Amino acid sequence: MAATKQIVMSGIRPTGFLHLGNYFGAIRNYVKMQEQFNCYFMVADLHSLTTHPDTKELRENVERVLAENIACGLDPDKVALYCQSHVHETAELYLYLNMLAYKGELEKTATFKDKVRLNPENVNAGLLTYPVLQTADILLHRAKYVPVGKDQEQHLEMARTFAHRFNHRYCETFPEPVAYNNNEDLVKVPSLDGSGKMSKSENQMATLYLADEDDVIRKKVMKAKTDNGPTEMNSAKPDYIENIFGLMKLVCAADVIAKYESDFNNCTIRYGDLKKQLGEDMVHFIAPIREKINSILPDKKYLQQVMEQGAAKANKSAGETMQLVREAMGLKYF
Ligand code: TRP
Repeated sequence: MAATKQIVMSGIRPTGFLHLGNYFGAIRNYVKMQEQFNCYFMVADLHSLTTHPDTKELRENVERVLAENIACGLDPDKVALYCQSHVHETAELYLYLNMLAYKGELEKTATFKDKVRLNPENVNAGLLTYPVLQTADILLHRAKYVPVGKDQEQHLEMARTFAHRFNHRYCETFPEPVAYNNNEDLVKVPSLDGSGKMSKSENQMATLYLADEDDVIRKKVMKAKTDNGPTEMNSAKPDYIENIFGLMKLVCAADVIAKYESDFNNCTIRYGDLKKQLGEDMVHFIAPIREKINSILPDKKYLQQVMEQGAAKANKSAGETMQLVREAMGLKYF
């Protein structure tokens, strides 16, 4: 059975502290996919070396991202949940693919240009070939679908280019991977300050983390931007109010939302009450995930076992692919 399932691969940066935007924008999708596909979900610890050569906090970050993803419902028995650095074949495929990647096209990559601008004193070759390493991650499992956000589309296009070039130069070995987005399932989660979406780098008070304590969640929600309410029946909602209703849709019951919609339309809405309700529903949603994270994190034995189990699955698939790759390239002399 397993062999007939389509192969899915994605990488998760070990930056830790996932927020509600990560949950509804990515992880929830991964959790659904684990039932229908043969999934490889990888913690991209090697990629982080391109910008963070100091590895003091790496282990902690890797453990946190594993614990957070498991707490959200990723099941290490159903998927291969593994660390990039445990799959040594990655380095080998990365080397071969580097011969097929041209300096000019790598220099044109938007993420590369951004990183050069932000950090002009550390423009290392690993940074330049970041998309090649990402391609190696994907092609190692001959994955067809890659669930990623918009910001990764260019990297995916490069992965297709490198796969195509390899197939053309040697012989048909890799499927050309495509971004997989179940659009209706991917929800943009608005930030609490009424501007943009929730993200790590923006205002911390406007982002709800899966690790936030109950009173922090309540406090952040109560601080969300509102006003005195509409003065005309059935008026259009300002963006920041629309955002609050957007957040309610994620965690509140339908009848609760309907009540506040009608209160808004007939100008009787009390935003204090609405935010109290939203705060409680957010707590109700986030608390069980946070508790799960906190129960997994100290269990180093369990985390190690997850990593070993994931590495075994990923190594098996990578080993099979590399046999094909060496054969295709004529690198098997005996
Ligand atoms: N570059 C991706 C990011 O920044 C992480 C990543 C690494 C990845 N390897 C991957 C994503 C392979 C998809 C497939 O989020």
